Amino acid sequence: MTILTSLPEWRALLAHQKTVASCSMLLAFKNDPTRFTRFSLEQGDIFLDYSKNRITPETLPLLFNLAEATLLRKKMDDLFAGRAVNFTEKRPALHTALRNPHANPVMIQGVNIMTDIHAALQKMREFTEQIRQHAWRGATGKPIRDIVNIGIGGSHLGPMMATHALRAFHLDSLRCHFISNIDSAHLQEVLQEIDPEATLFIISSKSFTTLETMTNANTLRAWLQEKLPGKNLTPHFVAVTAAFDKAREWGIPTSQIFPLWEWVGGRFSVWSAIGLPVALMIGMDAFLEFLQGAHKMDVHFQETDFSQNMPVIMALLGIWYIHFFAAKTHAVIPYTHQLNYFRAHLQQLDMESNGKSMNHHGEPVDYLTGPIIWGEQGCTGQHAFHQLLHQGQHVVPIDFILVGESTEEFNHQDILIASGLSQAEALLRGKTTAEAYEELRKNNYSEKDARQLAPHQSIPGNRSSNILFLKKVTPFNLGALLALYEHKIFVQGALWDINSFDQWGVELGKQLLPPILQDLTNGKINTEHDASTQGLIQHYKNLREQKKTHEK
Ligand code: F6P
Repeated sequence: MTILTSLPEWRALLAHQKTVASCSMLLAFKNDPTRFTRFSLEQGDIFLDYSKNRITPETLPLLFNLAEATLLRKKMDDLFAGRAVNFTEKRPALHTALRNPHANPVMIQGVNIMTDIHAALQKMREFTEQIRQHAWRGATGKPIRDIVNIGIGGSHLGPMMATHALRAFHLDSLRCHFISNIDSAHLQEVLQEIDPEATLFIISSKSFTTLETMTNANTLRAWLQEKLPGKNLTPHFVAVTAAFDKAREWGIPTSQIFPLWEWVGGRFSVWSAIGLPVALMIGMDAFLEFLQGAHKMDVHFQETDFSQNMPVIMALLGIWYIHFFAAKTHAVIPYTHQLNYFRAHLQQLDMESNGKSMNHHGEPVDYLTGPIIWGEQGCTGQHAFHQLLHQGQHVVPIDFILVGESTEEFNHQDILIASGLSQAEALLRGKTTAEAYEELRKNNYSEKDARQLAPHQSIPGNRSSNILFLKKVTPFNLGALLALYEHKIFVQGALWDINSFDQWGVELGKQLLPPILQDLTNGKINTEHDASTQGLIQHYKNLREQKKTHEK
């Protein structure tokens, strides 16, 4: 059994860190004019500059050794070959097959899943064309104008992120809305904007049992029944699910159910029919481009030497900071409004995948796994939390995502790019107390005031960041970018020897919810709850009673 932290390759990194810890990146740039070209690479329309990291030419080779020692190559082969990498659920994780345009068979339990995948894509094409050409009509004969996706987690975040990011590629007057939160305020907001006669609801749920999704679906059906009394509501609902029986029981005919399979994890499902809202908005051809972009990244990941492999390098840099610089979080800051929901999607992708504590053998690991993913779009974040990045004491590796070409009419691109670059430069450069003092004196501060203020205005610098520079946010490039992060997360999980494809922690919350819900309606509160939970249930019941008395 290989224990990561007892590997000689790990110890070599520990020793190396001691030599790097006090190095100045600025000095390294001065001493090595090739540092930028040495530590950057391009894959299609994505350029990665990782030169502003606390690394020397020795660092990555040492990290590659660690990756080899933890059998990364074999684990990558297992992923692509459809072996049961999700070992607690004994399932493969074949999201890469979903975006593979080639017909080479991939067999799962005697079934060629490539045939199923391509048939599902064809079904999506036919359906999107029917909607777009107004051949699909609502109960009163109106063509569909509003699409409402009802889903949560992977059945929501991926399609919402991509639909928003690709707004410039939306084809015509269709409008797309997303409902995920069980708080009916979310639902109310959407209901105000839609025409019941011209709305298609997509119930998106792999399990077709998720409480939030099914509650919202039931409420929306009741709402529609009220709005269109006596009408046949069948054309207003389609489902995307792996649970055909449950969807049929709910009332959706088989012809209106789009498949999902056990071997697709929820957070990796946007490439399947879970991406239906995206396909409806940008058209099936552009949706296929989205898949092709991801496939191109899959091929790059699979076939490229670690030294030029973008997901591998990003993953190993993350490992470098988490384990050797005690970083606990990772910020993702896209300087484009188009990627406004990218961070939210990544949070599920990364934290649901790698927020784990047990290794392959069911033993607790003695190191931190997945970082806390956070961030905000730039420049918004600059005026909120960047202060901590510049002068706070946390080690926060950052991915700045910049976009070369805007798809928008009003072009603020130069300012956006300058903003992102200046943040990365400021983090690198910092400001010494002497520089701050000089600046204050030049601005006519007295010597006494300048001396007092200078330490407060000094900025440590030598802080790392990656710059991911996208040529433009297109369906193809978005697919590639998302697949890049999926593989980065996979590589980290592989090194940590954890299962990146299950989410048992989420299940416990789901188990504990029904008894609490029962106690909210029952007279008695189950004393098996801890005292805090019992007290809070009682507190809520009191509030409810007070409201009732008030209303009388
Ligand atoms: O959050 C847990 C989870 O199981 C996610 O992995 C999944 O994306 C989400 O719930 C929604 O599940 P479903 O698609 O089955 O409704």
